[in-house]
Amino acid sequence: PGLPLADALGRPLHDLRISVTDRCNFRCGYCMPKQVFDKHHEFLPHADLLSFEEITRLARVFTQLGVAKLRITGGEPLLRRHLETLIGMLAALRTPDGRELDLTLTTNGSLLTRKAGALKAAGLKRLTVSLDGLDDAVFQRMNDVGFPVADVLDGIHAAQAAGLGPIKVNMVVQRGVNDGEILAMARHFRHSGVVLRFIEYMDVGATNGWRMDQVLPSAEVQRRIAAEWPLAPLSHSAPGETAERWAYADGGGEVGFISSVTQAFCGDCNRARLSTEGRLYTCLFAHRGHDLRGLLRGAEPVDDGQLASAIAGVWQGRSDRYSQLRGQGAATPEGERRVEMHYIGG
Ligand code: GTP
Ligand code: 5AD
Ligand code: SF4
Ligand code: SF4
Repeated sequence: PGLPLADALGRPLHDLRISVTDRCNFRCGYCMPKQVFDKHHEFLPHADLLSFEEITRLARVFTQLGVAKLRITGGEPLLRRHLETLIGMLAALRTPDGRELDLTLTTNGSLLTRKAGALKAAGLKRLTVSLDGLDDAVFQRMNDVGFPVADVLDGIHAAQAAGLGPIKVNMVVQRGVNDGEILAMARHFRHSGVVLRFIEYMDVGATNGWRMDQVLPSAEVQRRIAAEWPLAPLSHSAPGETAERWAYADGGGEVGFISSVTQAFCGDCNRARLSTEGRLYTCLFAHRGHDLRGLLRGAEPVDDGQLASAIAGVWQGRSDRYSQLRGQGAATPEGERRVEMHYIGG
């Protein structure tokens, strides 16, 4: 297929987000609510997961189609055994013109203290940690497994010490749940080298019972922060970037706002998602994926060229812009269940 590859709305393919497990040791209410993901929930059997070889093969084909950034997600990716082996395999990939890939990972930080060194040594370039508050009562209510804030902060320090910086911290803001933590989080991460980003609570998946009144618009978050510490806008650092970037005017560093509800950024969305069992999704809010594992494991072996054609065909047919349409008041299609975030990878 000819490059650059563009979808039906002219958007290039640049990022691939790879979910390596559907499991997680947290039960955040907005992602894997305990009532749904209890001891009766069946996670994928190991044989259904893409192997490291399969993931690496697909990632290599994606780089041939223009992907220059890989993000490893989950579930909680550090629960996948020997993940550093996969990181090493992916770190060896190059773009067609010989450049290294941007290779990063999103984690809840719970296992980071133990794993930061090995991840860095394997070739991970940088890292994003999810953390929804600094107050233990608030954070433990949100992760719903009683996991302490201090252990996540230790993980962040371990990652910084290992040279995995600049670290980003993502905070999902839910009105009435953790919006009281906004200023404490901002204060804590100012002057730390960590880039804190506030995420609007999204209506992703089908189990979190999302309501618009639980969303605190980024404009309000930003107003609260700027009242304390004036902010100055920064320009985008990459096309299709999710976050609006701002700098503390006093030199305290950078903060970001990811406003997928109030200011959809579908217009230049360049992200493809590979699920734990090898389905290709072209939108976070998709109902259906395209089975790539079937091609890899089918009775008729396919070569990389055939894989590339199949993936290119999916991308070229893509017209997803869910957040934008929802923002314009379009009804959510009924009848089909949306894919869950822990399965597709945030
Ligand atoms: P960098 O800024 O390069 O580090 O990466 P990123 O912002 O793409 O990745 P990250 O995983 O940190 O994304 C942050 C959050 O933004 C995710 O957890 C999602 O909540 C949200 N997000 C990321 N990509 C999309 C997207 O394509 N659509 C929507 N609606 N939300 C997204
Ligand atoms: N809305 C916004 N962000 C979410 N995440 C998970 N579910 C949601 C949601 N409903 C975020 C996590 C983490 C990343 C993987 O996705 O907090 O930062
Ligand atoms: Fe686990 Fe992340 Fe989902 Fe929380 S948001 S349940 S940490 S995958
Ligand atoms: Fe991309 Fe879909 Fe998110 Fe829009 S809603 S930015 S198309 S993943």
